[in-house]
Amino acid sequence: MLHDPNRIYVFDTTLRDGEQVPGSQLTTEEKLIIGEALQSLGVDVIEAGFPISSPGDFQSVVELSKLLREPVICALTRAIKGDIDRAAEALKEAKRPRIHTGIGSSDMHIQYKFNSTREAVLERAVEAVKYAKTFVEDVEFYAEDAGRADNVYLAQMVEAVIGAGATVVNIPDTNGYCLPEQYGEKIRFLKEHVKNIDQAVISVHCHNDLGLATANSIAGLQNGARQVECTINGIGERAGNTSLEEVVMIIKTHQSLNFQTQINSKHLTPLSHMVSRMMNMPVQANKAVVGRNAFAHSSGIHQDGVLKHRETYEIMNPEDVGLDKSSIVLTARSGRHALKYHLERLGFPADRIDLEGVYQRFLELADVKKELQDEDLLLLMEAETQH
Ligand code: KIV
Ligand code: ZN
Repeated sequence: MLHDPNRIYVFDTTLRDGEQVPGSQLTTEEKLIIGEALQSLGVDVIEAGFPISSPGDFQSVVELSKLLREPVICALTRAIKGDIDRAAEALKEAKRPRIHTGIGSSDMHIQYKFNSTREAVLERAVEAVKYAKTFVEDVEFYAEDAGRADNVYLAQMVEAVIGAGATVVNIPDTNGYCLPEQYGEKIRFLKEHVKNIDQAVISVHCHNDLGLATANSIAGLQNGARQVECTINGIGERAGNTSLEEVVMIIKTHQSLNFQTQINSKHLTPLSHMVSRMMNMPVQANKAVVGRNAFAHSSGIHQDGVLKHRETYEIMNPEDVGLDKSSIVLTARSGRHALKYHLERLGFPADRIDLEGVYQRFLELADVKKELQDEDLLLLMEAETQH
């Protein structure tokens, strides 16, 4: 990887962490369709799967490796030789293969998951990276549950795996525990205390159990991380992962962060719909950036403002995320300006109608129907002309 100081590498794990959602499993065919769309979106890395987990997952990594020639193709393993062998085998035909190996780093994981010690776990981490390096040059190491790990021990582990050849060090907040300030400090601590940190890219991987995944990822980037791991629509285990579209649009909207990605944001909405449909995971209407209501205005005050000057109530341009335009929704909370806008759009110039009269009848109907469509307005105007 090149180390442009402001370039943020986008690592998409929709097909691995995202696909762990119950009921959202994809066929290889579907993974190839989403993989191609992710490549067109411009992600830098696609985590294609966890090859040891099942023959189907293995095959998906093989097929994605053959098909996608632009992004790095990454396969997940535990710090176990058999896992690494299987990942290396699945990645054989990849143009830019990466093995993603790792082990728990918090005392909680060391004690209860591994019934082991800090020293022994650190040794396993180093051995795993060294073994993965015998197959591929690009090895990413994850320190699972780093969010709850002791920073001094975490720094020792990170230094040791970079010494063993890790090119990327992933610091997951596996359980979505951290506050943004804590997570940012953790990344800064590693920047300041790991002697060889400049030989690797720091990656952030945050879960959304407290609704902080995106905020934590941004805090990590502000403190020196340069790769962000995320999924389309923020899907993933439990409350999900950091949502790709949120991170990308934060970076685009806040130019003062001085970060760049190579994502073509106009693909975000179509891809969000594709993933939602294929993975059987509806997107909540008020989801940031890609929710159905993210660019919909329904209250009279907001509609009046947007119709006068879009930026009064919009900080992003809908065209930047692949929508034609914002929508002005007609409800009983809408004002005259919104009604006039829609009537003119349907061919009823305001100076030829009794706008106030139509507005009063519109309100009566809206109280009953909740949201009015073009057909409702046309019926309203038909009744009007028969008066
Ligand atoms: O959340 C996590 O810790 C992970 C690792 C396997 C990278 O998904
Ligand atoms: Zn994860």
